[in-house]
Amino acid sequence: MSLALAPAVVVQRSTPMRDAIELVVHHPPSAAAVKPGQFFQLAVAAPQTILRRPYSAAWADPQGGRIGFIFNVVGAGSGWLAVRHEGHELDLLGPLGRGFSLEGERPVICMAGGLGVAVFPGVVQALVARKRRVTMLLGARTSSQLLPADRFTGADVLTATDDGSAGYHGSVVNLFTSTLRGRVGVEAVDILTCGPTPMLQALIENVRQLGLPLESIQVALETPMGCGVGTCLGCAIPRAGGGYLLSCIDGPCVRADRIDWGRMTDAFHG
Ligand SMILES: Cc1cc2nc3c(=O)[nH]c(=O)nc-3n(C[C@H](O)[C@H](O)[C@H](O)COP(=O)(O)OP(=O)(O)OC[C@H]3O[C@@H](n4cnc5c(N)ncnc54)[C@H](O)[C@@H]3O)c2cc1C
Ligand code: FES
Repeated sequence: MSLALAPAVVVQRSTPMRDAIELVVHHPPSAAAVKPGQFFQLAVAAPQTILRRPYSAAWADPQGGRIGFIFNVVGAGSGWLAVRHEGHELDLLGPLGRGFSLEGERPVICMAGGLGVAVFPGVVQALVARKRRVTMLLGARTSSQLLPADRFTGADVLTATDDGSAGYHGSVVNLFTSTLRGRVGVEAVDILTCGPTPMLQALIENVRQLGLPLESIQVALETPMGCGVGTCLGCAIPRAGGGYLLSCIDGPCVRADRIDWGRMTDAFHG
């Protein structure tokens, strides 16, 4: 972990898609240290909030010393972050947790539901740099909530929307099974995914039905967290074979066969 000793400074604020905000911060030690899939605990100074809030690094630019965060407003902490502007300071703790394992030669399918997309610009960039063939599947309620395809240079981008306003009409998991099944040798792919727990559950179910090994899937969990560093035990998820994993130190990127999906309920939501 590269603990941020000096605060990061917001250098850019934008709206990359409807209902989302992207903050770019300048903090060279963190930008140099972070790996795709890792997260930071961001201090928020909203009234009556005590805990930091966990956010994935969407991407990092080690040369320029910059990191991007993409998020939506769901409560006090994200509401406070949403009104940070250029010149404001941000206190980052991190990078934390385990990122995705990106090694290998097989084609990769990245699958994002909703704001789960936030982790993928940097992941795709790193995979493409490793010369891996990448298909990015993006799912959202409607077209304006899709992160633009030009954020995934070098990947084939396919979209799914619940209302049919762009791409496949339906869920991103159905896009995966119905469209890609005949097109790609799905038995020989790695799958990296992030999204709401019901989406992950549906993916696991479909992958089982397709007879694919769960080991080929890595999940970026967004389990609500307290400390982010393994001490509060607030981020436990059920481990295959019994017991629990801690999302913040065993994850957030975890191989799907390490999770007991039968015990993974909305109590462990993300
Ligand atoms: C490792 C990790 C990485 C994350 N990366 C991102 C990211 O890149 N972009 C992004 O937008 N969000 C991300 N999240 C989710 C983000 O941390 C929460 O949305 C945020 O902490 C909410 O804080 P708040 O004070 O705004 O809302 P709160 O007031 O704390 O909560 C508001 C509502 O949101 C629900 N909620 C809180 N946390 C979560 C969660 N983790 N999952 C689902 N519902 C939640 C609460 O139950 C409540 O109903 C990530 C979470 C984790 C664990
Ligand atoms: S968030 Fe505290 S142990 Fe994981």
